[in-house]
Amino acid sequence: MPTNVLITGVAGFIGSNVLDYLLQHTDWTITGIDNLSTGSKANIAHASDARFRFVQGDVRSISSLKEYKIIFHLAALPRIQPSFELVSEHIAENLLVGVHLIEIMIRENYYPRLVYSGSSAIYGTPTMIPTPEHERVDCLSPYAFQKYEVERYLELLSTRYPLDYVTLRYFNPYGPRSFNPANKFNAYSSVVGIFLNRHKNGQPLLVTGDGSQQRDFIHVADLAKANYLAAIHPDRLNMAFNIGYGATVSVLDLAKMISSDIEFIAKREGEAEITFADNSKARTILKWEPSVPITDYLKSELQ
Ligand SMILES: NC(=O)c1ccc[n+]([C@@H]2O[C@H](COP(=O)([O-])OP(=O)(O)OC[C@H]3O[C@@H](n4cnc5c(N)ncnc54)[C@H](O)[C@@H]3O)[C@@H](O)[C@H]2O)c1
Repeated sequence: MPTNVLITGVAGFIGSNVLDYLLQHTDWTITGIDNLSTGSKANIAHASDARFRFVQGDVRSISSLKEYKIIFHLAALPRIQPSFELVSEHIAENLLVGVHLIEIMIRENYYPRLVYSGSSAIYGTPTMIPTPEHERVDCLSPYAFQKYEVERYLELLSTRYPLDYVTLRYFNPYGPRSFNPANKFNAYSSVVGIFLNRHKNGQPLLVTGDGSQQRDFIHVADLAKANYLAAIHPDRLNMAFNIGYGATVSVLDLAKMISSDIEFIAKREGEAEITFADNSKARTILKWEPSVPITDYLKSELQ
């Protein structure tokens, strides 16, 4: 029997990289769903494997999950700044779409492993650095709060139903396809992708504030591997893991690694001063470890 899995948000930055990883490292049969709201078909155009089926549609149109053994839930409207303006739209996409999947499981009384893409944004500006999973929650944006609400619903509902889930709290992902020219929220995507794109177009890099904010940048291939390891773990984990590199770079230092043409713009509210993962839990339990230092990625992109 082939293992059937579902990736929601497959045409997005991280979803398309999870797809690549699974096609390369497993023999699984993969269905990917995406409504192309922020993703694009170009992100998966290269994935012509017969084991992959793309469904263009909304997660809310799914009525059964019985054919899948594993669900990778990545579909979201994942941008901090727009979530302050389009609040109900973000609640619908980030909270209710996740709850929709959980409700199907409860209705069908069928509980596939759910690997949920969470976010380190739930820590706000952390009190513990590096930040472990038991850090207090301090959501600085509607987006962060919505990502956290899904985590809490998973936790709460698993006290009544036999849910089987893993939450992966991503730190600052970067890598191939992080910058999608077709995405209306591009200005809020990974700063690494934005800087590289501006540099390639001969434009100055725009650093917010004084650029002293520190980020734990994590390559998307390492995130994809974390998704895979969370999916195959033999135990019902029902817990959250930090998925970050475990080191920081300031935004100004990042800009300097890419270009000397730098300009400063106003600081954005709702964004953390520092993100820095204590990733020891993922190392110990998932046997995951990050493998791509950001300096290697920049070298390959800039040569
Ligand atoms: N990129 C980051 O910095 C970051 C950081 C932490 C967590 N995350 C989480 O990782 C996940 C993936 O983020 P990403 O950076 O790849 O974003 P993305 O915008 O590139 O991908 C999200 C995908 O979901 C699709 N989508 C949205 N709503 C949908 C719906 N209702 N039905 C079907 N498809 C839908 C979009 O079209 C898009 O292709 C999200 O859950 C996000 O919250 C991202």
